[in-house]
Formats: sequence, C-alpha cells, structure tokens
Amino acid sequence: MQFEVIARCHTTRARVSRMTLAHGTTVLPTFMPVATQAAIKGLTSQQMESLGVTLILNNTYHLNLRPGLKVLAEAGGAHKFQGWDRNLLTDSGGFQLVSLSKFTTITEEGALFASPFTGEPTMLTPEESISIQHTIGADIIMQLDDVVSSLTTGTRVEEAMKRSVRWLDRCIVQHKKAGRQDTQNLFAIVQGGLDPNLRDQCLDAMIERQDGVAGYAIGGLSGGEEKDIFWRIIKQCADKLPEERPRYSMGIGFAEDLLVCVALGVDMADCVFPTRTARFGVALTHDGPLNLKLSKHARDFRTLDEKCPCPTCSDKTSRAMLHHIVTHETSGAHALTLHNVIFQAQVMGQAREAIIAGTFPEYLRSFFARYFGESG
Ligand code: GUN
Ligand code: ZN
Repeated sequence: MQFEVIARCHTTRARVSRMTLAHGTTVLPTFMPVATQAAIKGLTSQQMESLGVTLILNNTYHLNLRPGLKVLAEAGGAHKFQGWDRNLLTDSGGFQLVSLSKFTTITEEGALFASPFTGEPTMLTPEESISIQHTIGADIIMQLDDVVSSLTTGTRVEEAMKRSVRWLDRCIVQHKKAGRQDTQNLFAIVQGGLDPNLRDQCLDAMIERQDGVAGYAIGGLSGGEEKDIFWRIIKQCADKLPEERPRYSMGIGFAEDLLVCVALGVDMADCVFPTRTARFGVALTHDGPLNLKLSKHARDFRTLDEKCPCPTCSDKTSRAMLHHIVTHETSGAHALTLHNVIFQAQVMGQAREAIIAGTFPEYLRSFFARYFGESG
C-alpha cells in the first residue's frame, strides 16, 4: 500500500490522503458502501467509479457461507466474482460475534458459529479468517477481533481487548506466512469498549506491532452508546494512531457522525445504514433523512434532490413516484439505494474538497445548519 497525506485542515485534525492499493487509488476520507455478499445492486462498476466510489466492503463470514470459498476460488476471487475491479475491503467476521451472538461461543482458539442453514458448528480462527480473506482476494483485510457490544461492562471488555491483541499476532503470522503483503493489506482493530484506560492499553500494544500492519481500525463502537463518549473514544484513538497509516472507524454511517469522525482525523468508515434505511423507504438528503413512505409525499412532484447526480435523481423521479414505489414495489428500495450510496459519497467528496480548499470548518457549519434544519 502507498499512503500519502496530501492536505490538512488547519483547525481540525481532518486530512485528505491518497491510498493506492492493487486495484487503484482511493482518495480519503471516504465512506465504503457495504455489499455484504456481492456488489451493490443496480450500480455498475463504471457508475460507481464515475460517482467517486472506488472502495467497497464485503463480509468474510457471509461470503464464506454463500457463495462459499470453492465458488470464489473458482471465479478467481471476489473482485472477479462480483465484477468489481476497484478496491475491496473484507471484514474478518469478528463483528458477527455481536450481530449473531446467539449463535456463537468464543474461545481462545477462535469463534464457534452455528451455521444458520444447518445448525452445524464451525470454528473461525484468526488464521482461518486471514486465509479465507486471502482466497477472497480483498485489497484490505481485517484481523479477527473479539468484539463485544459497546454497552457491555465488566471484565469481559478487558478480556476481549486483550484477546484481540493476541489474535492480531496470530493474524500477522498467518499473513506473513502466505507472503501476500504486496497485494493484500492487513489492518488491526483497536478494541477496549468505552474505557479510555483499556483503549490506551490496546493502542500501545497495537502500535507496537505496526511493522505487521498497514492500517488501523477503531472497532467496538456505534452500539448505542452516548454520542459524547463515542466522540471521545474516536478522538483518543485517532490522536494516538500513527500519522502515516490510514484510520478506519467501523460501523459509522450517519452523515453527522461521519463528518465529526473526519474532523477528528478518521480516513475511512463503513456502515449498512444508508443501504438498509433505503430498503425501509428513507432517502438521505442535505436537509436530513426523508421518509418517503409517509403519505405527505403522495402528491409531491419535485425531484428528490435536483442537484444529486445519482440515477434516480438524474431521471427526475418525483417524490410522489418514489412514495408510490417504496410502498408498493421492490424497485423503490433499489431507487433509494442508488441515491443513498451517492449521497454518502457526496458528503465525503465535499469534505475532501473543503479540506483541500481550506474551508472545512465552514463546510461543517453549513452542512449541519441545513441537515438539522436551522437554515429554514
Ligand atoms: N464492524 C463494526 N464494528 C466492528 C468491530 O468492532 N469489529 C469488526 N471486525 N467489525 C466491525
Ligand atoms: Zn439522488
């Protein structure tokens, strides 16, 4: 990986950088849309690229179940399988310890999952997670971490943090053994819950291992904690992580959170929120989220957002039409997914432009004033 900071904001910690991976250059900060099992439906690679999306996220746990490694290996990796020739990041499966916690048991060896299809137990070890991600062929691969919900308290938080450090060591060994460091980049994931002391210990341990990793993620957040604590933990981590490595906050997707994270020095983020909320009929706009299922939109013939370059808005699809299709047709979810992915890309693209122009604080003010309706 080549990583180069090209501009900095003088009043916040925000920065613009260029990250070059095996499938091209991605300019940061960026939001990564989540394609749990395959590329984002309805957007061709070319559309995605022309709209500024050059890095997406797949999930190891889900890809491993379906289509499965044999199919992926036969296809020549996940890039080829889903027709995506830009950058790809895979999450390790660690997060499924939280999202599928009813079906998992954690041991020092790894995470034991019950298959949702057959109920059969399968062990995901740090070594296996890395070797699966090697087969998938993502440009950025994540360590297997021991993740607890951000609302967990007590000794389990410390245990998970310390285990994540031990598992990082096993991931580094496995990654080196395969000799994939030239084409695939391993990221560490800082854990430690909402406890600044545990976060600090984790930061120290993981920074010590920086020769073995290409970048750092901040994990274990966005699980319903207070915003104030969330921001403090992001700030603590972003302040201490090495300047010359990309910083990735995991599971962050609300526009307001993204911009605060960027101001604190975060370079990358991902979340299912924009695509999931689209399926519930919600469009993200510069004036805040818009629930198109509400009947007040039934006779609103304005375009969703005149200035939006997404296919839905370029076609001048009216809010009334969107209301109709989100309530009655599956094409509604599709139209809003396109729009929301592009909305996120625009929020981050405008942030990059403002950082370069030296106007990032003004951008934050005008974005927030409009998003929260203060400009009228
Ligand atoms: N996605 C959101 N949060 C996390 C986390 O803490 N770890 C992993 N592996 N994925 C995540
Ligand atoms: Zn749009």
